[in-house]
Amino acid sequence: MESYVDREKVLVTSALPYANGPIHLGHLSGAYLPADIYVRYKRLNGDDVLYICGSDEHGVPITITADKEGVKPQVIIDRFHEINKKAFDQFGMSFDIYSRTSIPEHHETAKEFFTNYYNQKLLNEKKTFQFYDEKVKMFLPDRYVEGTCPRCKFEEARSDECESCGSLYDPSELLNPKSKITGETPKLKETSHWYFPLGKYQERLEKYIDEMNQKFGWKENVLQYCRGWFKDGLKDRAYTRDLDWGVKVPLENAEGKVLYVWFEAVLGYISATKELSEKRVDPELWKKYWQGPDTKYVAFIGKDNIVFHTIIFPAMLMAWNDSGNEQYVLPQNVPANEFLNFEGKKFSKSRGWGIDVIDFMKLFPADPLRYTLAANLPENKDTDFYWKEFQSRNNSELADILGNFINRTFIFANKHFENCVPEVTKLENIDEEMLNQLVEAPKKIASLLERYKIKDAVFEMMSLARKANKYFNDSEPWITVKRDKDKCASTVFVSLQTIFTLAEIFYPVIPSSSEKLFKMLNAEPVEWGNCGMENLKPGHKLNKAEILFKKIDDEVIEDQKSKMGNGEEEQVEQITIDDFSKVHLKSAKIIHADRIKKSEKLLKLQIDLGTEKRQVVAGIAKSYSPDELIGKRIIVVANLQPAKLFGIESQGMILAVENNEGGLNILETPENIEPGTRVK
Ligand code: 2FM
Ligand code: ZN
Repeated sequence: MESYVDREKVLVTSALPYANGPIHLGHLSGAYLPADIYVRYKRLNGDDVLYICGSDEHGVPITITADKEGVKPQVIIDRFHEINKKAFDQFGMSFDIYSRTSIPEHHETAKEFFTNYYNQKLLNEKKTFQFYDEKVKMFLPDRYVEGTCPRCKFEEARSDECESCGSLYDPSELLNPKSKITGETPKLKETSHWYFPLGKYQERLEKYIDEMNQKFGWKENVLQYCRGWFKDGLKDRAYTRDLDWGVKVPLENAEGKVLYVWFEAVLGYISATKELSEKRVDPELWKKYWQGPDTKYVAFIGKDNIVFHTIIFPAMLMAWNDSGNEQYVLPQNVPANEFLNFEGKKFSKSRGWGIDVIDFMKLFPADPLRYTLAANLPENKDTDFYWKEFQSRNNSELADILGNFINRTFIFANKHFENCVPEVTKLENIDEEMLNQLVEAPKKIASLLERYKIKDAVFEMMSLARKANKYFNDSEPWITVKRDKDKCASTVFVSLQTIFTLAEIFYPVIPSSSEKLFKMLNAEPVEWGNCGMENLKPGHKLNKAEILFKKIDDEVIEDQKSKMGNGEEEQVEQITIDDFSKVHLKSAKIIHADRIKKSEKLLKLQIDLGTEKRQVVAGIAKSYSPDELIGKRIIVVANLQPAKLFGIESQGMILAVENNEGGLNILETPENIEPGTRVK
């Protein structure tokens, strides 16, 4: 038995997705499929592998979704934990466990780490002023406050940082702050939090990353990112938040405070492994991996998670290890991917752009999707999923190259060799060369996978199938079967061995097709790379062949494309300036607003248009109460034909934009614009 690297104890994690919505194809390409391919390969290679994942069930967005639906956060996480677990399962993810951060083990683990730091006197308690939204009675995290930058006057600046001019300031300096949750003006309220002294670890973190990179070759995108953080200098990070959903701060004077989601989510990997230990009735299992100095820990993530896995999590583990307790292993590598986009644009739930995994799985089997995504992973730059590419990867590669070769070989074996592996009496150069490929290809692919170059490895897999087709064609068994049966036997023999190798090397990418293939061969996989001419002995009986890859028709793809949603600038028909000037947009002021009986969505507004007053019916009742609209200066389409809504005449339309929370914000003009002014 031979293996290309010494057997390793490998701990693999994939980022824990938020249980706040269904995962889409972009998630798969970032942190899940590459990890699953790596893990499946390592297992075949005979390595001792543990693969951990689960739902991240805390954080503010989950509470906002829950509020919007008027349910408890628990309802949201239960729903999406199940949906995502099922989606991953159907996609063929081979996690050893898919856990969740709401389990008691996780809360305990997260508290244990906090307490350890607290007892080491590592955490600094600081008082600060933070924005507080009276309406929802909560402190607002940075990204839920927007206002005008005190320096450059950019109007969408965050509470303490301006994206436009890059300046950092105290939240009290932000002009015209607005809560993104309610649109209200938030108040600054004093609060106190514990801070983790990240700066203290900068030097050691730099050394750690440098050393890991030297030994194991980190990806350039990941290194770049870390260098950026180090250059700016690591600062204290708040370890706690004012929120009632999450892991409670384990201190007496910490009512209403929870651990910041990132400081506990990363520990979810450890608590998930503890849960697995319990399930397997092996209490030492989690320690064997997390606290084994010989463990190789690889954390697969998407690029938006880099800082948390290369800086914060390692710093947390260093801090724990400093306390002299059991020593945890740090990630040996963090092969973060860039993003996958959908047909040229970012996935967006609100714009209906993209497709969720659970929906995809209702339409197509997992393997063609796995292959398409794997062949096009965003390893070094963002890539796209295109329906057309999915069709051609399936039809022209899986079906026409791989499937076709398998089919032709099985037909020959069945028709001319009693569905058995033929005896060989002579091997010619062409046969020897092909057999040689069966030894070389797995080596090359293993070497790429070991370096997380998964896309290149997938290319090599299909290359072997291409070579196999060429070998079959060049050997012309349909001629030799009549003139030189021994030569035909050699071709079929070599082709069957080739199919065995293809089943083996394609297993990590298209596992269920590979399993079917092994069944057709009436054989079991061998240890990775033990492929060659000995896998199927002459006389070995084959099973019945089946079609592995069904072609996807144009209509099916067109149908999906037609459902892709719209509202995208590029798809909208272009208009001329004359077309635009037909639309009379005018500023107006709301003077009165009423609810409309039996309608949850509509409000009846009386507006001042300067020279006239009008009545407009607007679908904004879910986002605004009538009272708060009075006096607002808005923009209306003034020359829209009147229409009746719920029996009430509407003489125009007001402009509004959908916000991140799925509600509407009406567009407002500055105070000094007189009603009736034309908007151009
Ligand atoms: O980006 C996300 O979806 C996060 N929930 C990932 C967390 S990874 C780890 F920290 F658990
Ligand atoms: Zn600014």
